[in-house]
Amino acid sequence: MIELEIFQTASDAAHRVAELALEQVAARPASVLGLATGSTPIAIYQDIVRQVRAGRVVWDQVTTFNLDEYVGLCASDPHSFTYYMQQHLFGPLGMRKQKWFMPPHCGPDLAQIAPRYDQTIADHGGIDWQLLGIGRNGHIGFNEPGTPFDSLTHVATLSESTRQANAAWFDGHLDDVPQQAVTMGLATIMAAGTIVLAAFGESKAWALEKLLKEPPTPAVPASVLTQHPHVLVIADQAAASRINALAGRAGT
Ligand code: PGA
Repeated sequence: MIELEIFQTASDAAHRVAELALEQVAARPASVLGLATGSTPIAIYQDIVRQVRAGRVVWDQVTTFNLDEYVGLCASDPHSFTYYMQQHLFGPLGMRKQKWFMPPHCGPDLAQIAPRYDQTIADHGGIDWQLLGIGRNGHIGFNEPGTPFDSLTHVATLSESTRQANAAWFDGHLDDVPQQAVTMGLATIMAAGTIVLAAFGESKAWALEKLLKEPPTPAVPASVLTQHPHVLVIADQAAASRINALAGRAGT
């Protein structure tokens, strides 16, 4: 069951997502959160950091699991998602290393060890609240079109459109964008208690329309979410431009 909230601007929508994360942590201080990277969560993380610093909630007991990481980029590489998370959330919140997890992404036998991430998540009691962005091709995490709905954490080959979208993070150099990443699988994501998907900007309009209007299909990986009992989509007007008529609740 998917609920939809549409906000005038990406900034209002980001604020709403931050509120939801903070409400989750206020209700359960030892929450296990699933987190995302990319341009979408930046304003969300800024808002969370500001409010945690202002004393709105205590974040010390929170544990986080990130959705994905490029294969072969070590934590000190400014293009890695580990670095991104340290810049935008872990560092500003002073999170201790044992409280955050990234998928295994360096070393041999990655294909074999990747599913252990699911076990580590299970060992921590499972993900209570999962934040997702959405790719312009409908991917979630790096689960590209065609990924089976029952996939666990695995090594994924990035589609050309995803690499092009992410080239901006590599000074526009497509050749520098890694070909592979380790990503939570669709079944990993679906095991979360609550899922909040943030979609900001016109480039997400097609994917959002597919997710909300069409039957689930591996061709649009995000459509697996229609089979989850508790998904909230937070969109700005631009991302919702093709599905406005379906809006369940408009934000302010
Ligand atoms: P973006 O990426 O936030 O940078 O648009 C979202 C995604 O690809 O999942």
